[in-house]
Amino acid sequence: MTTLNARVTHTVPFARVDAGEAEAQAAADVIRGGWLTTSSRCAEFETAFAGRVDAEHAVAMNSCTAALHLALEALGVGPGDVVVTTPYAFAASAEVLRYLGAVPLFVDVDPSTFNIDCDLLAAALERLEQGDRRVLPPAYRNRVKPRPAKAILPVHIGGVPCDLDRIYKLAAAHGVAVVEDAAHAFPAALGARPVGSTTDASVRSATCFSFYATKTLTTGEGGMLVTDDAALAARARQMSLHGLDRDAWARHRGSEPWKYDIAAPGYKYNLTDIAAAIGLVQLGRADTMTARRAEITRRYDEHFGALEPLQIPHVPVGVTPSWHLYMLRIRPSEVSIHRDRFIEALASRGVATSVHFIPLHLHSYYRQSLGYRPADLPVATDEWEREISLPIYSAMTDDDLAHVCAAVTDVATRFARGM
Ligand SMILES: Cc1ncc(COP(=O)(O)O)c(C=O)c1O
Repeated sequence: MTTLNARVTHTVPFARVDAGEAEAQAAADVIRGGWLTTSSRCAEFETAFAGRVDAEHAVAMNSCTAALHLALEALGVGPGDVVVTTPYAFAASAEVLRYLGAVPLFVDVDPSTFNIDCDLLAAALERLEQGDRRVLPPAYRNRVKPRPAKAILPVHIGGVPCDLDRIYKLAAAHGVAVVEDAAHAFPAALGARPVGSTTDASVRSATCFSFYATKTLTTGEGGMLVTDDAALAARARQMSLHGLDRDAWARHRGSEPWKYDIAAPGYKYNLTDIAAAIGLVQLGRADTMTARRAEITRRYDEHFGALEPLQIPHVPVGVTPSWHLYMLRIRPSEVSIHRDRFIEALASRGVATSVHFIPLHLHSYYRQSLGYRPADLPVATDEWEREISLPIYSAMTDDDLAHVCAAVTDVATRFARGM
């Protein structure tokens, strides 16, 4: 019997942050400057980021989760509202709906990209409008009266943009808002349009990015809400700082009166200037970092594209991903071991991997609260079982890359059926 294990000659972590002296210097400058939290660096970062994604307003926050929460809040999503999204996402993507008492309606994903299946989205919006309760999550079918969706929450998985033209067309036709989960999607584009820019000005919308440690641009923890909707941006900004009518920096500096009013019970979601200073340096390096991830993708595609046991990621025509993830799939009909054993075999060869994602409807909370069964969302249920995310980050060396290529090829050929 073929053994899973191999002698480890080199180890490659799943992720490694690409930040160095320039980021350290920028953070140190803020620390020496006498004010560590939200002020001028955040404002600069917001302006630079908005310019980069071609948006009118940007609100820096301490996570993408916070940005998603406040985008939905600003759009008036509340108790009992139905928001159409997919189960192929991270915990954050749907938990923010639960914060607001909204109901996530999961539609399945397109097997080629893991992004929302727009035919299923169209059908769900239509059926909600017709009051068809069978489209609701099973646990809600007899509990709430069906009503038209309030919003669509598409997730650009791995940084491959969803079909935004189609999504916004549907949103406009049904009069619903769109909140894009672009945690993975900086910088990504559809044609010449960056993710974060407006697709259809008649639809109220916002796009939310993540600057978590493993992301394509990092501030350690951080996020950004961008939009062309001035009212939405203003509400999100206010709610990110306790719902106060003026921020602490302005009050301490003495440029504004010391008095403030609590206009709403807000949250503490602001980004620090230390993080923003790091973000500004990272933004300046974004093109170089993206080019390296694109190169890694090209090399992986070259190596694995011809191997029968493996299926390489699909990128739709006209789309430029951020190359945040390399979502390889194994073909169970061609490989004699399960995905989990494939992962173990790679680990024993020094290659750390991850899986994106365990679909939300398979987790105990969503099983219990929404009542979905695995078979209700068959594409997500089947596809995640064969997915393996390989290391891909700009700090990856050529030796790391060669090692991953050799290890994956070794496991795929050693455990190919018929070998
Ligand atoms: C798809 C998706 N959405 C949202 C988030 C939340 O991002 P953050 O950690 O910045 O809150 C993540 C984080 O990994 C994610 O993968």
